[in-house]
Amino acid sequence: MAAHYQILGSTSAAISASVETGIRTGVLAAGDALPPVRSLATTLAVSPATVARAYQELRQRGLVVTAGRHGTRVRPRPPVAPRRAARHPAPAPGTRDLSLGQPDPRLLPPLGPHLAALATGIGPPVGYATTGVHPALAEAARSRLAADGVPADELTVTGGALDGIERLLASHLRPGDAVAVEDPGWANLLDLVAALGLRPVGVPVDDEGPTVTGVRDALTLGARALVVTSRAQNPTGAAVSAGRAEALRALLAGRADLLLIEDDHAAELSRLPLHPLAGATATWAFVRSVSKPYGPDLRLAVLAGDEVTVSRVAGRARVGAGWVSTVLQRLVLSLWRDPATTTLIHQAADAYERRRSGLLAALADRGVVAHGRSGINVWLPVPDETITVTALRDAGWSVAPGGLSRLGAPPAVRITVSSLDDADLTPLADAVAAAVRPADPIGFTA
Ligand SMILES: Cc1ncc(COP(=O)(O)O)c(C=O)c1O
Repeated sequence: MAAHYQILGSTSAAISASVETGIRTGVLAAGDALPPVRSLATTLAVSPATVARAYQELRQRGLVVTAGRHGTRVRPRPPVAPRRAARHPAPAPGTRDLSLGQPDPRLLPPLGPHLAALATGIGPPVGYATTGVHPALAEAARSRLAADGVPADELTVTGGALDGIERLLASHLRPGDAVAVEDPGWANLLDLVAALGLRPVGVPVDDEGPTVTGVRDALTLGARALVVTSRAQNPTGAAVSAGRAEALRALLAGRADLLLIEDDHAAELSRLPLHPLAGATATWAFVRSVSKPYGPDLRLAVLAGDEVTVSRVAGRARVGAGWVSTVLQRLVLSLWRDPATTTLIHQAADAYERRRSGLLAALADRGVVAHGRSGINVWLPVPDETITVTALRDAGWSVAPGGLSRLGAPPAVRITVSSLDDADLTPLADAVAAAVRPADPIGFTA
């Protein structure tokens, strides 16, 4: 539906600024249609080329998307922070929120004792001269990655996985370049790709990771970068298997023109072994965030790769934010070194495994097919996302519409299982079964 917002302006800059204002103030919401180029040009008494330029600028900044007959619409999460009042409302009171894709706060290791230990041994303040990667953290990260078969001689630290991926993409690609991304894939990555003015090329995913045919097709379409999630793929739960890794490595071997990015965000939480692609191409990076096992608020990831790639990521940080605080780096090191924390992480991994496989089994008992080989999400293909999301909300469960996570993949919803208790499984599976298979319509006659 077209939005009732009057776009103003007589130059392309003014028109795009007007659209941005509409988005920032929440009058133009995600999915709202902008007027067709010609009709807005007539309304504003400017040439169609002026409006087209404004739309193109908005598209390159990831605020809008143009999709064939659907015209130009506001993207689901444009990179413009809305005013507080315009942010998404919280789910209705009493609704269980399974839409967020985040770890169970009850299963994150407590930071208090580590912060207290840091406070007593913090030492003199760190200045600009002694920054970068904390040597002990680098050494610990190297041996953890090496144990998983990732060569990590060159390594840096970023403010989380997405920060690393942003600098990787920005330092190797130019606006308009194509990036191969999993489809369905991580919604935040799709938003980032749009905000960088890059062109996403969807690669289909099955339970073993991105398909070989899909990656081959994306390369044929000119993809300059490929982002692969190693395990706990968001949203499908796919994990790259040994066979898939071998086939992809063979396909990618010797590609001098491709930046290969692996995102191993499940890290220590994964019950499945890592089958890395790292090093299959000359230009590569392997990113491992601490968000899922240790807590998203730590905002830290380690990034290994070839020398040129790591140097670009670290060098770009140096002329920007600088470095990831050594206070945070030392906090993560303290968590890594603590056997009690390691035990908690193992317990969390077991709990997520139980919750995910418990829900999948309960759904299978009801004849409902869903996916989730690893991680904290279950991906449920449905005929209509809105109908399913609404039916589940009415039954007291909030889930994420798959539309945020997909390009051309068929409709589905994402159910985050991280916070489920055993007692939730039966009512949730019943509600899902009812939502995907609504009762037969009741006729007028018996
Ligand atoms: C696929 C994927 N990668 C990485 C992350 C973690 O990102 P960050 O380290 O920026 O918190 C997430 C979190 O949801 C994710 O789903």
